[in-house]
Amino acid sequence: MKTSEKSFAFISEILQGKHTGNSVRIRGWVHRQRTSGGLAFIVVRDSTGTIQCAVKKDAVDEGSWKDATELFVESSLEIEGAVKEDKRAPGGYEIAATQAKIICKGEAFPIAKDQSVEFLLDTRHLWLRSQKLSAIMKARHRIIHYLREFFEKESFWEVAPPIITKAGCEGGSTLFTVDYFGKPAYLTQSSQLYAEVFITALEKVFVLAPSFRAEPSRTVKHLTEYWHLEPEMAYFDYKMNIDLQERMIEYVCQKFAKENADLLEALGQKAERLLKVKAPFKRMKYEEAVKLINERGGKMKSGEDFGADEEMFLTKGEEKPIFVTHFPKEIKAFYMREDPHNPGFALCDDLYAPDGHGELIGGSERIWELDELLGRIKEQNLKEEDYQWYVDLRRYGSVPHSGFGLGIERLVKWMLDLEHIRDAIPFPRLINRVYP
Ligand code: 4AD
Repeated sequence: MKTSEKSFAFISEILQGKHTGNSVRIRGWVHRQRTSGGLAFIVVRDSTGTIQCAVKKDAVDEGSWKDATELFVESSLEIEGAVKEDKRAPGGYEIAATQAKIICKGEAFPIAKDQSVEFLLDTRHLWLRSQKLSAIMKARHRIIHYLREFFEKESFWEVAPPIITKAGCEGGSTLFTVDYFGKPAYLTQSSQLYAEVFITALEKVFVLAPSFRAEPSRTVKHLTEYWHLEPEMAYFDYKMNIDLQERMIEYVCQKFAKENADLLEALGQKAERLLKVKAPFKRMKYEEAVKLINERGGKMKSGEDFGADEEMFLTKGEEKPIFVTHFPKEIKAFYMREDPHNPGFALCDDLYAPDGHGELIGGSERIWELDELLGRIKEQNLKEEDYQWYVDLRRYGSVPHSGFGLGIERLVKWMLDLEHIRDAIPFPRLINRVYP
């Protein structure tokens, strides 16, 4: 019988007691192996869990014994045997093998315990099999799933913007240039400007796509390529925008905490931390935030942006993220609408995660009137011809609108309390790393 025609049990089913007393076949990879006399123990891993398999020399054929004793950590294999409940075995179940067959023996696995961070990044294509990274990747999948679910419930349409663009969205200094058939083009910093196109047809939309920042920052919060969730909504003012962000963060934290006890446990986390993330979150204006930061030991001047130290002063010991609104318009992007009641300040918000995990979201009400936008483009010395199509949107049926951008890896880092953002994405792109 060919492998593909056999039916295999998942290890999680065995650990739930679904196959106790029966004979099963499993397939997976060797997590650990040790032989003692005529008995070999192989801990096998599949995508759902690990289980110990006991192979007795006199209970299997010669080929099975050879395979069971000559394999490496991470060799791939199939095992057939009887499922027994066994309190001494990790997970409480064991397979008494009647057959073992290597699929690919391979070579000695290069990753053992206690390797350096750089080595583990060099062998990321292999390290992604580790239990920690597997749990993080599953958690990331679930977090993105809950975000999509949230926007489906809120009647949003998902749209697809281009990645190669002609102009920046967030300032020229962090653009990656691409040689586009002899002319310069850029990897997108944000899909926002394109998301704005769709609001006159679909009203509420979101984009989930990579964004690129040629940021020379070597920090635990910055990637040069990250996944960016960018909703954009017609007829939303900045307050409705903030309310939506708050609902979204609450939804994803509550759902994740309630439905993923296994992943939280695998990552050494407690659900209570995320269950505390409920609306309302604190909201304060930029000027108030600056005052608070300086009272707590910061040394910033009004008009400056927040760095890592300021973010830490602001959020240390908090249980929920904090909104800061109304930043000075000079330190914010050209498309943000100025507060008509508070000139000089933008109708914008940044959402900061607790304990210095960093800025999760940047959002704003957009300039929707033609003259105001043309004026701002001039004020910020941007090339008008690069933004003609974007300006055009203000000529035909423009409406007030708002939107925001959420960094997926920042959210994952905070929700899972990871030390470094590099572990929130399979293949991190950092200032000194584009391999593997
Ligand atoms: O605040 P930013 O730069 O805002 C924008 O790009 C807007 N155009 C978004 C919008 O309104 N549609 O970025 C938004 C978020 C940040 O709050 C952060 O979570 C994430 O993107 N981010 C990064 N994540 C990882 N590495 C980086 N270098 C990041 N830069 C921004």
